[in-house]
Amino acid sequence: MIEKVYPPSLYNYLWYIRSNPTGNRILDCGAGGCDPKLAFFLENGFEAYGIDISDEQIKDSEEFSAKNNINLNIIKGDMRKIPFDSGFFDYVYSYNSIFHLSKKDSRVAINEMHRVLKKGGLCYLNFLSVDDKWSKEGEEINPGEIITKEDDEEYLHSYYEDDEPDSYFDEFEIIYKEKIHIHIGRYYNTGRSCILEYITRKV
Ligand SMILES: C[S@@+](CC[C@H](N)C(=O)[O-])C[C@H]1O[C@@H](n2cnc3c(N)ncnc32)[C@H](O)[C@@H]1O
Repeated sequence: MIEKVYPPSLYNYLWYIRSNPTGNRILDCGAGGCDPKLAFFLENGFEAYGIDISDEQIKDSEEFSAKNNINLNIIKGDMRKIPFDSGFFDYVYSYNSIFHLSKKDSRVAINEMHRVLKKGGLCYLNFLSVDDKWSKEGEEINPGEIITKEDDEEYLHSYYEDDEPDSYFDEFEIIYKEKIHIHIGRYYNTGRSCILEYITRKV
């Protein structure tokens, strides 16, 4: 057992999964880093798979796995071209990751998540709201797409109006949608102040 408490959003997603049991195979898109959320699902009995585009992030997740004596099964992969067969997964999610893609690429990635999901399977995603306190910091290259620079590296963040992500989910049923305003405290380990969360079902 890993001594760790995970973001509330994952417990909420687990509740929806338990209420919609279709199997136990789950995919995390953007799964790497030193705080891999897949550990939560592995510990809850799921067959866990992850992909990440960055070697460095995968290495960090492997260090976490070695330290905690677990295997998270994270491989290199791009969520815009998910390296798994259609209908392979019961559940898919991406936590704090899809908003690093442009809005056009986010649509490609969500179509890929739809492809690899079984019919009836669930998908969790979180997006940054235009009401987040950092939504105007940086250079806007397209509406809501902001480039910021840190240590000579450029980062893209996409910010969304309240219902804007709905159009990504034409092939899904939206079963949960929340706008979270953080007035005091933190959104888990980020400094974000406004997030849009979705749980959808492949129809
Ligand atoms: C802010 S980190 C979040 C990591 C992890 N989900 C977490 O909650 O700690 C964003 C992650 O998304 C990954 N990523 C960005 N674009 C990606 C893509 N197109 N396909 C797969 N992973 C991607 C990055 O390499 C990075 O590991």
